[in-house]
Amino acid sequence: MAMHVEHRPWLDATRPVPERVEALMAQMTLEEKVGQTHQVANIHPDDDAELLRQGSIGSSLFASGATAGNERDEGVLAHNIDAAQRHAVEDSRLGIPVLFGRDVIHGHRTVFPIPLGLAAAWDEELAEQAGEIAAHEAAVDGVAWTFAPMVDLSEEPRWGRVAESLGETPVLSGRLAAALVRGFQGEDPGHPDRIAACAKHFAGYGLAAGGRDYDTVSVGENTLRNLHLRPFKAAVDGGVTTVMAAFNDVDGIPMHAHRHLLRDVLKGEWGFEGLVVADWNGVGQLVNQGVAVDLRDAARQAIEAGVDLDMCSGGYSAHLADLVRDGDIAEGLVDDAVRRILTVKFRLGLFERPYAGEPTRSNAPTEQTRAVARRAAHAAHVLVSNNGVLPLGPDCGTVHLSGPFAEEGEALLGTWTLDGRGEDVVSPAAAFRERLGSERLLVSDGRFSDRSVQQLRNADVTVAVVGEHSWRSGEANSVSDIGLPAGQLDALHQLARLGKPLVAVVYTGRPLELGDVMDLADAVVVVWHPGIEAGNALADIVFGDVSPHGRLPMTFPLTTGHIPTSTHQRPTGRLIERHEDPRLGRYLDDLVFPRLPFGHGLTYTTFDYGVPRLSAPQLTRSSGSVRLEVDVTNIGDRAAREVVQLYFRDPVAEVTRPLVELTDWAVLDLDPGETGTAEFTVTAEQFAYFGRDNTARVDAGEIVLQVGPDALTGKRTTLTIID
Ligand code: NOJ
Repeated sequence: MAMHVEHRPWLDATRPVPERVEALMAQMTLEEKVGQTHQVANIHPDDDAELLRQGSIGSSLFASGATAGNERDEGVLAHNIDAAQRHAVEDSRLGIPVLFGRDVIHGHRTVFPIPLGLAAAWDEELAEQAGEIAAHEAAVDGVAWTFAPMVDLSEEPRWGRVAESLGETPVLSGRLAAALVRGFQGEDPGHPDRIAACAKHFAGYGLAAGGRDYDTVSVGENTLRNLHLRPFKAAVDGGVTTVMAAFNDVDGIPMHAHRHLLRDVLKGEWGFEGLVVADWNGVGQLVNQGVAVDLRDAARQAIEAGVDLDMCSGGYSAHLADLVRDGDIAEGLVDDAVRRILTVKFRLGLFERPYAGEPTRSNAPTEQTRAVARRAAHAAHVLVSNNGVLPLGPDCGTVHLSGPFAEEGEALLGTWTLDGRGEDVVSPAAAFRERLGSERLLVSDGRFSDRSVQQLRNADVTVAVVGEHSWRSGEANSVSDIGLPAGQLDALHQLARLGKPLVAVVYTGRPLELGDVMDLADAVVVVWHPGIEAGNALADIVFGDVSPHGRLPMTFPLTTGHIPTSTHQRPTGRLIERHEDPRLGRYLDDLVFPRLPFGHGLTYTTFDYGVPRLSAPQLTRSSGSVRLEVDVTNIGDRAAREVVQLYFRDPVAEVTRPLVELTDWAVLDLDPGETGTAEFTVTAEQFAYFGRDNTARVDAGEIVLQVGPDALTGKRTTLTIID
């Protein structure tokens, strides 16, 4: 039913988007509007044909792949999306294209490290590049929208979804989120190689009680504003087109019914004009959460709260029109949702290019995309201890590579990789073999079942690759104990007993309890699930071609019992200073400080920090800036990268403020003997916070600045904010 622009003025791409939206909405029936708010999972061109022709499906979740029958059609999630789209575009009354969304979380075919690993790079450019590659590869499969980045602040290692997060601090998380949004969407999300991004899960999801996924969240608005909302604001300011509501409640109000946070704050105060998508059946779950009597009631509450697109509950499709006709909700609420959904569709260029297009175009990893993935994987390696055994030199002799991940590919892709393929992953053993040849490499699964201990004792050094399988992290994969998986510590004990130098490589999606591992091993490398370049990146680091430069984006607690512990800690009435007995009035049976501070990461050289210099001791509250500089010298004998971190503390404020909060960082690449200067522009705005009335403020008074290699160690200077 192809029609000309004169009959369909919204097809005129020269008109501004708002005009096109209004022109289209003026033609839509209430049913057609409701159709736009309905997202289905795994759309099927035949089964859903009638609904598509009626304009009753606005969006699809998961489907990917232009046509059936091509080589990408084997997976359960591959679909003939162009055939489905044709029904919507050519056979429906108004021809509104379907918006195809899919979880492209850390790469599509080229799988990068998990987001927590990407965060360990502290590198906005790299994040943007990864987003751009993912967008291009996903677009080839007809995907127009990804549900990333996840910006839930993560301080709870039991929660499996920390793997998908960008860490615990608002500044690192917010800046990387904005970089990923730029990568996915580019300047113009309508470009054929870009897709829409989604900041999720709004809000507070990272505070799930006990780390149990989906659990209830008890947090006040002040903490939300001073911490958890900030990366969302950064993503919104960065132009993100969509935001996803969170499964949890916040202090009793489920987010899918949270009118204040969705409508007043996100859409009102922040002026977010994009669309808010529900999470999977999040609308229906209002019934399970005990705030709605049935799906109709849930749909009413969700549309009132500001959820525009219903992911797969069917509640909007079944009830919105009746709710309007019965006078239970104003049609304006539906119009507002549809306006937002159509705006995204127009901005994505879906009316001009509804089809995936060239099904033969390859989106498999290339040399170029692998090079970016390898760089990102390097940064996902965080060296947390080293007595000098690393890097292994050319004379390291025979290496025993041991443990469950030695020959693994798929396990190292990390959680949420719908399109990554195990066979694209370079395993640790493959990469080590390439370097050492088979003669100098012994590979075992770490249980001494496949080679005699005697043979293994002939090796000169053991590299044990232990940790979590990617299935042990991510959504719905919480653990009650953050120790290594069963049996691995025993294996490490056995390996240590061989009396040879032992390097422990710990693959993970969450901070783990590392005390025993650090005691047993001569060096420990924490590796966030690194993606397809896993083995190559590990070999580059272990053999010293690359000096490690990953820095922890989450604090590592001493034990499970110490959770939560993070840089969000605030001063109590009985503050324990570092020089005091850290048991004082706290745990009788343990210390209170974390095992590894936020920002920690060693390398193969040593950096010496000079005294931080301020260009002026004072700064005006409302304007201007001062310059903070610190000289850093590489006093070792290898080139390496230092991530110079700037923290601050506001010692007196209207509300309790963190003992230390990251506010900026600078990256220096330094040759042996070289001195570099990290330069920071400091503005009073950086010390703004939400006060007792939940409005933003900057106070006059002292700010303590701390510059150093992590949240714990640093040199301090004081800045005074004046009126
Ligand atoms: C549920 C998850 O919470 C969300 O992050 C994801 O995007 C949706 N499912 C869609 O897969």
